[in-house]
Amino acid sequence: MQLERILHSQGFGSRKICRSLIRHGLVSVNGEVCDQPFDEFETENLQFSVRGEDWQFRIQAYLMLHKPAHYECSHKPQHHPSIFSLLPPALLERGVQCIGRLDEDTTGLLMLSDDGQFIHRMSSPKWKVPKIYEVTTKHAIDDEQVKTLLSGVQLLDEPAPIAALACEVISTNVLHLTLAEGKYHQVKRMLAAVSNRVEALKRIRIGQLELPEDLAPGEWRWLDSVMLERIAPTRNNS
Ligand code: URA
Repeated sequence: MQLERILHSQGFGSRKICRSLIRHGLVSVNGEVCDQPFDEFETENLQFSVRGEDWQFRIQAYLMLHKPAHYECSHKPQHHPSIFSLLPPALLERGVQCIGRLDEDTTGLLMLSDDGQFIHRMSSPKWKVPKIYEVTTKHAIDDEQVKTLLSGVQLLDEPAPIAALACEVISTNVLHLTLAEGKYHQVKRMLAAVSNRVEALKRIRIGQLELPEDLAPGEWRWLDSVMLERIAPTRNNS
Protein backbone atom coordinates (compact mmCIF):
# COMPACT_ATOMS: atom_id res chain seq x y z
CA MET A 1 0.00 0.00 0.00
CA GLN A 2 1.24 3.53 -0.70
CA LEU A 3 2.65 5.29 2.36
CA GLU A 4 0.21 8.19 1.99
CA ARG A 5 -2.71 5.76 2.05
CA ILE A 6 -1.25 3.88 4.99
CA LEU A 7 -1.08 7.02 7.14
CA HIS A 8 -4.56 8.08 6.04
CA SER A 9 -6.00 4.66 6.99
CA GLN A 10 -4.37 4.88 10.43
CA GLY A 11 -5.97 8.22 11.28
CA PHE A 12 -3.25 10.76 10.48
CA GLY A 13 -5.56 13.05 8.53
CA SER A 14 -6.60 13.65 4.94
CA ARG A 15 -4.47 12.25 2.12
CA LYS A 16 -3.16 15.78 1.55
CA ILE A 17 -2.10 16.18 5.19
CA CYS A 18 -0.47 12.74 5.16
CA ARG A 19 1.42 13.58 1.95
CA SER A 20 2.71 16.76 3.55
CA LEU A 21 3.83 14.92 6.72
CA ILE A 22 5.76 12.48 4.54
CA ARG A 23 7.32 15.14 2.29
CA HIS A 24 8.48 17.04 5.38
CA GLY A 25 10.47 13.99 6.52
CA LEU A 26 8.28 13.42 9.59
CA VAL A 27 7.52 9.78 8.81
CA SER A 28 9.79 6.75 9.22
CA VAL A 29 9.03 3.22 8.13
CA ASN A 30 10.73 0.28 9.78
CA GLY A 31 13.27 2.72 11.27
CA GLU A 32 14.12 4.75 8.14
CA VAL A 33 12.77 8.15 7.08
CA CYS A 34 10.69 7.91 3.92
CA ASP A 35 9.81 11.20 2.20
CA GLN A 36 8.13 9.61 -0.84
CA PRO A 37 4.33 9.55 -0.33
CA PHE A 38 3.78 7.01 -3.09
CA ASP A 39 6.38 4.44 -2.01
CA GLU A 40 4.71 1.07 -1.47
CA PHE A 41 4.97 -1.02 1.71
CA GLU A 42 3.68 -4.37 2.85
CA THR A 43 1.29 -3.49 5.70
CA GLU A 44 1.53 -6.73 7.67
CA ASN A 45 3.51 -6.06 10.88
CA LEU A 46 4.52 -2.66 9.50
CA GLN A 47 6.15 -0.44 12.11
CA PHE A 48 6.21 3.27 11.39
CA SER A 49 6.63 6.51 13.25
CA VAL A 50 5.02 9.90 12.81
CA ARG A 51 6.76 12.90 14.37
CA GLY A 52 8.87 10.46 16.40
CA GLU A 53 5.91 8.52 17.80
CA ASP A 54 5.91 4.78 17.10
CA TRP A 55 2.91 2.99 15.60
CA GLN A 56 2.10 -0.40 14.18
CA PHE A 57 -0.21 -0.75 11.18
CA ARG A 58 -3.57 -2.15 12.28
CA ILE A 59 -6.43 -2.89 9.91
CA GLN A 60 -8.79 -2.13 12.77
CA ALA A 61 -8.28 -0.72 16.21
CA TYR A 62 -9.19 -2.63 19.40
CA LEU A 63 -8.20 -1.22 22.75
CA MET A 64 -8.99 -1.10 26.42
CA LEU A 65 -8.99 1.94 28.66
CA HIS A 66 -9.01 2.20 32.44
CA LYS A 67 -11.74 4.80 32.78
CA PRO A 68 -11.09 7.24 35.60
CA ALA A 69 -13.95 8.78 37.58
CA HIS A 70 -15.31 12.10 36.39
CA TYR A 71 -14.94 11.43 32.68
CA GLU A 72 -17.90 11.04 30.33
CA CYS A 73 -18.24 8.33 27.68
CA SER A 74 -19.36 10.82 25.07
CA HIS A 75 -17.96 12.82 22.20
CA LYS A 76 -20.03 15.74 23.47
CA PRO A 77 -19.55 15.68 27.24
CA GLN A 78 -21.72 18.00 29.31
CA HIS A 79 -20.07 18.39 32.70
CA HIS A 80 -16.74 16.55 32.63
CA PRO A 81 -13.98 15.82 30.14
CA SER A 82 -14.56 13.12 27.54
CA ILE A 83 -12.82 9.76 27.81
CA PHE A 84 -11.85 10.35 24.16
CA SER A 85 -9.53 13.13 25.34
CA LEU A 86 -7.41 10.36 26.92
CA LEU A 87 -6.66 8.84 23.48
CA PRO A 88 -4.28 9.96 20.73
CA PRO A 89 -6.00 12.06 18.00
CA ALA A 90 -5.22 9.41 15.33
CA LEU A 91 -7.52 6.94 17.11
CA LEU A 92 -10.37 9.45 17.18
CA GLU A 93 -9.79 10.31 13.54
CA ARG A 94 -10.24 6.67 12.59
CA GLY A 95 -13.56 6.58 14.40
CA VAL A 96 -12.87 4.64 17.59
CA GLN A 97 -16.06 4.28 19.71
CA CYS A 98 -16.66 2.88 23.18
CA ILE A 99 -18.32 -0.50 23.46
CA GLY A 100 -21.04 0.24 25.99
CA ARG A 101 -20.86 3.22 28.29
CA LEU A 102 -19.94 3.69 31.91
CA ASP A 103 -21.46 6.41 34.08
CA GLU A 104 -19.41 9.50 34.79
CA ASP A 105 -18.63 8.28 38.34
CA THR A 106 -17.96 4.63 37.34
CA THR A 107 -14.34 3.56 36.89
CA GLY A 108 -12.72 0.55 35.29
CA LEU A 109 -12.59 -1.44 32.10
CA LEU A 110 -13.84 0.09 28.88
CA MET A 111 -13.28 -1.43 25.46
CA LEU A 112 -13.08 0.68 22.33
CA SER A 113 -12.88 -0.13 18.64
CA ASP A 114 -13.47 1.17 15.13
CA ASP A 115 -14.79 -2.22 13.99
CA GLY A 116 -18.55 -1.77 13.70
CA GLN A 117 -19.31 -5.50 13.60
CA PHE A 118 -17.23 -6.15 16.69
CA ILE A 119 -18.88 -3.26 18.57
CA HIS A 120 -22.30 -4.57 17.59
CA ARG A 121 -21.49 -8.10 18.64
CA MET A 122 -20.00 -7.11 21.99
CA SER A 123 -22.93 -4.82 22.80
CA SER A 124 -25.70 -7.03 21.52
CA PRO A 125 -27.95 -8.53 24.23
CA LYS A 126 -28.03 -11.65 22.04
CA TRP A 127 -24.40 -12.48 22.83
CA LYS A 128 -24.84 -11.88 26.58
CA VAL A 129 -21.18 -11.02 27.14
CA PRO A 130 -20.90 -11.06 30.96
CA LYS A 131 -19.61 -7.94 32.67
CA ILE A 132 -18.31 -8.06 36.22
CA TYR A 133 -18.57 -5.03 38.47
CA GLU A 134 -16.98 -4.43 41.83
CA VAL A 135 -19.70 -2.71 43.80
CA THR A 136 -19.10 -0.86 47.06
CA THR A 137 -22.37 -0.41 48.89
CA LYS A 138 -23.58 2.06 51.48
CA HIS A 139 -25.25 -0.56 53.66
CA ALA A 140 -24.00 -4.01 54.64
CA ILE A 141 -24.92 -6.65 52.09
CA ASP A 142 -27.09 -9.44 53.48
CA ASP A 143 -28.12 -12.88 52.23
CA GLU A 144 -31.61 -11.68 51.35
CA GLN A 145 -30.22 -9.00 49.01
CA VAL A 146 -27.93 -11.54 47.31
CA LYS A 147 -30.81 -13.96 46.89
CA THR A 148 -33.01 -11.28 45.35
CA LEU A 149 -30.28 -10.04 42.99
CA LEU A 150 -29.82 -13.61 41.76
CA SER A 151 -33.51 -14.37 41.39
CA GLY A 152 -34.30 -11.08 39.66
CA VAL A 153 -35.46 -7.55 40.44
CA GLN A 154 -38.12 -5.57 38.64
CA LEU A 155 -36.73 -2.28 37.34
CA LEU A 156 -38.90 0.59 36.22
CA ASP A 157 -39.66 0.50 32.47
CA GLU A 158 -38.32 -3.05 32.06
CA PRO A 159 -40.80 -5.66 30.86
CA ALA A 160 -39.49 -8.46 33.09
CA PRO A 161 -37.36 -8.88 36.22
CA ILE A 162 -33.60 -8.83 35.63
CA ALA A 163 -31.33 -11.25 37.48
CA ALA A 164 -27.58 -11.09 38.06
CA LEU A 165 -25.64 -14.03 36.59
CA ALA A 166 -23.50 -14.16 39.73
CA CYS A 167 -23.17 -12.26 42.97
CA GLU A 168 -20.10 -12.86 45.10
CA VAL A 169 -19.86 -11.16 48.47
CA ILE A 170 -16.27 -9.99 48.96
CA SER A 171 -16.72 -8.16 52.26
CA THR A 172 -19.49 -6.52 54.30
CA ASN A 173 -19.87 -3.68 51.79
CA VAL A 174 -18.26 -5.04 48.63
CA LEU A 175 -19.63 -7.49 46.11
CA HIS A 176 -18.78 -8.68 42.63
CA LEU A 177 -21.87 -8.58 40.47
CA THR A 178 -21.97 -10.29 37.06
CA LEU A 179 -24.52 -9.01 34.56
CA ALA A 180 -25.45 -10.19 31.08
CA GLU A 181 -27.01 -6.89 30.02
CA GLY A 182 -25.82 -3.30 29.95
CA LYS A 183 -28.94 -1.33 30.74
CA TYR A 184 -28.89 2.30 31.80
CA HIS A 185 -27.62 2.63 35.42
CA GLN A 186 -28.30 -1.10 35.76
CA VAL A 187 -26.10 -1.83 38.77
CA LYS A 188 -27.26 1.25 40.66
CA ARG A 189 -30.89 0.48 39.92
CA MET A 190 -30.55 -3.17 40.91
CA LEU A 191 -28.91 -2.28 44.22
CA ALA A 192 -31.55 0.36 44.87
CA ALA A 193 -34.21 -2.29 44.19
CA VAL A 194 -32.86 -4.34 47.11
CA SER A 195 -32.84 -1.26 49.38
CA ASN A 196 -29.10 -0.71 49.21
CA ARG A 197 -27.10 2.00 47.45
CA VAL A 198 -23.97 2.06 45.29
CA GLU A 199 -21.18 4.14 46.80
CA ALA A 200 -18.51 3.19 44.24
CA LEU A 201 -18.62 1.18 41.05
CA LYS A 202 -15.76 -0.30 39.04
CA ARG A 203 -16.01 -2.64 36.06
CA ILE A 204 -13.30 -5.24 36.50
CA ARG A 205 -14.02 -7.66 33.68
CA ILE A 206 -15.77 -8.01 30.29
CA GLY A 207 -16.09 -11.62 29.14
CA GLN A 208 -12.61 -13.10 29.42
CA LEU A 209 -10.93 -9.71 29.55
CA GLU A 210 -9.82 -8.55 32.99
CA LEU A 211 -8.78 -5.01 33.85
CA PRO A 212 -4.99 -5.39 34.16
CA GLU A 213 -3.60 -4.39 37.55
CA ASP A 214 -0.82 -2.42 35.91
CA LEU A 215 -3.15 -0.32 33.76
CA ALA A 216 -3.54 2.91 35.75
CA PRO A 217 -6.70 5.05 35.57
CA GLY A 218 -6.54 7.12 32.37
CA GLU A 219 -4.18 4.70 30.61
CA TRP A 220 -5.08 2.68 27.53
CA ARG A 221 -3.58 -0.32 25.77
CA TRP A 222 -4.01 -2.13 22.45
CA LEU A 223 -5.83 -5.43 22.66
CA ASP A 224 -3.63 -8.03 21.04
CA SER A 225 -4.93 -10.88 18.89
CA VAL A 226 -4.65 -13.40 21.75
CA MET A 227 -6.90 -11.28 23.97
CA LEU A 228 -9.33 -10.69 21.09
CA GLU A 229 -9.53 -14.39 20.35
CA ARG A 230 -10.51 -15.00 23.96
CA ILE A 231 -13.10 -12.24 23.99
CA ALA A 232 -14.74 -12.97 20.62
CA PRO A 233 -13.50 -16.33 19.30
CA THR A 234 -15.13 -16.37 15.88
CA ARG A 235 -14.09 -12.87 14.96
CA ASN A 236 -12.31 -12.43 11.63
CA ASN A 237 -8.97 -11.14 12.89
CA SER A 238 -7.25 -10.59 9.52
N1 URA B 1 -24.36 0.08 35.94
C1 URA B 1 -24.43 1.33 36.43
O1 URA B 1 -25.29 1.63 37.24
N2 URA B 1 -23.51 2.22 36.01
C2 URA B 1 -22.50 1.92 35.14
O2 URA B 1 -21.67 2.78 34.81
C3 URA B 1 -22.45 0.62 34.65
C4 URA B 1 -23.40 -0.30 35.06
